[in-house]
Amino acid sequence: MSLEKLEVLREKRKKIELGGGEKRIQKQHKSGKLTARERLNILFDEASFVELDAFVKHRCTNFGMDKVDAPGEGVVTGYGKVDGRLVYAFAQDFTVLGGSLGEMHAKKIEKVVDLALKMGAPIIGLNDSGGARIQEGVDALSGYGRVFYKNTIASGVIPQISAIMGPCAGGAVYSPALTDFIFMVDKTSQMFITGPQVIKTVTGEDVSAERLGGAMTHNTTSGVAHFISSNDEQCVLDIRKLLSFLPSNNMEKTPVLETGDDPNRIIDNLNFIIPENSNKPYDMKKIIRYVVDNEDFFEVQPYFAQNIITGFARINGESVGIIGNQPTYMAGCLDINAADKASRFIRICDAFNVPILNFVDVPGFLPGIAQEYGGIIRHGAKMLYAYSEATVPKVTIIVRKAYGGSYLAMCSKDMGADLVYAWPSAEIAVMGPEGAANIIFRKEIKEADNPQEGRQMKIKEYKDEFATPYKAAERGFVDDVIEPSLTRIRLCDAFDVLRSKRENRPPKKHGNIPL
Ligand code: HXC
Repeated sequence: MSLEKLEVLREKRKKIELGGGEKRIQKQHKSGKLTARERLNILFDEASFVELDAFVKHRCTNFGMDKVDAPGEGVVTGYGKVDGRLVYAFAQDFTVLGGSLGEMHAKKIEKVVDLALKMGAPIIGLNDSGGARIQEGVDALSGYGRVFYKNTIASGVIPQISAIMGPCAGGAVYSPALTDFIFMVDKTSQMFITGPQVIKTVTGEDVSAERLGGAMTHNTTSGVAHFISSNDEQCVLDIRKLLSFLPSNNMEKTPVLETGDDPNRIIDNLNFIIPENSNKPYDMKKIIRYVVDNEDFFEVQPYFAQNIITGFARINGESVGIIGNQPTYMAGCLDINAADKASRFIRICDAFNVPILNFVDVPGFLPGIAQEYGGIIRHGAKMLYAYSEATVPKVTIIVRKAYGGSYLAMCSKDMGADLVYAWPSAEIAVMGPEGAANIIFRKEIKEADNPQEGRQMKIKEYKDEFATPYKAAERGFVDDVIEPSLTRIRLCDAFDVLRSKRENRPPKKHGNIPL
């Protein structure tokens, strides 16, 4: 082969690797963002990234596009290794036509999703795109349609993780919304279906892009995003960490790592963590951190519906998904957002064979007109559905309150928990002692010489009888009442035993979870 041919190849590649050129790269850096290639370099193990389709070109001729060169078609795609495991990825290149998605850009993304699906490997999308490429019209819309379709087909088969790393509008947000997890970068990323200008025209509302669709908005208010990272590099490193908890596909078990934490570790502090007064809050995250390997808890949606905690950790090296009520926030009541957050997390765990561990301290579903009008019935039902449907190992620890419907909604024995342990501080009953006494002893309280005193006596009577774990243990709804300090030991044993769990469900096309 002549040297000239090699030179042509090298020249072409160099040009493609420069994307939109030095000026636009500088602009990208100035706005606090990395380029698509820099992001991929951080995502993948050193020198493991293999690019595909670098030479793909658009075929649009509208609006002078025949004269527009779009290196790499505005998206870098390929595969590589993350902690030695195969992962596919695409990174939109904002320096090329704003990372906008046209027909061929979409084809590049579809190809890596297809390959990831075929190979049973996760797909990571680093999104930084102005949405559908306006010049391409319906071809661009069709491109998005195909990407949405692929995302849906891949759902539940391979982990799909999206990062929002710039202003993402229109179609650029629906593909991430169809994936399992969304990361956003603080201050430099936004997501919205219609931007501030359109909103102003249609509804007259004034809102900045950041307040409308910034990282904090989607992490706290809408619940669209699962994570917020301080900058691009941290975001990509966070994705690597998330991957460490997940298998490569739905046929694999979760990765087991040697964490060096003793499975027989006794945690004396846990014996004293629940306050004497059962209405006093405490931080459930402390319990979670004490129990898991090396106190390493990777929280999912830490800022949304904080009355419920979701996240990943390891127990004796095995990855587990943890769901816990948070007494410091709304007393740990379940509401619409908490039910949505927990249900989605349960289904992700179940889809990818991640065992589930529940820490229960729940006084009930949040009462109120807003909750009823908002459909707490169908939202709360999602938790019942998701837990019942899940066939992964399920272990529940009742640390304090477990009342009424929320006792069931937090994965009681009847919702298919394989093992239920209760601490001596557990209170398992149809409702709290105050409410219960007022209803069932109404007559006695009313007729008492001193109704106030009578009420207190009846509350105590009910509490002594039911606000303990022993009634539930007598019926076998609780497998054992354990010393809190031994919780980690019991959990390490439980998940070890449950590794060979097999549970089948009747064949069906798919269930119909209440949405
Ligand atoms: C073609 C686009 C583009 C697009 C940006 N560019 N978005 N080109 N199609 N959708 C180009 C710009 O023309 C510009 O080119 C370069 O990308 C960088 O854009 P700037 O505007 O200079 O950058 P910035 O100021 O940072 O603003 C970024 C932005 C803005 C907020 C994303 O560009 C914007 O509002 N774009 C349009 C967003 C949008 O409405 N998209 C369509 C959504 S509808 P030059 O050459 O000047 O550098 C949709 C339909 C699908 O997606 C729906 C499916 C459900």
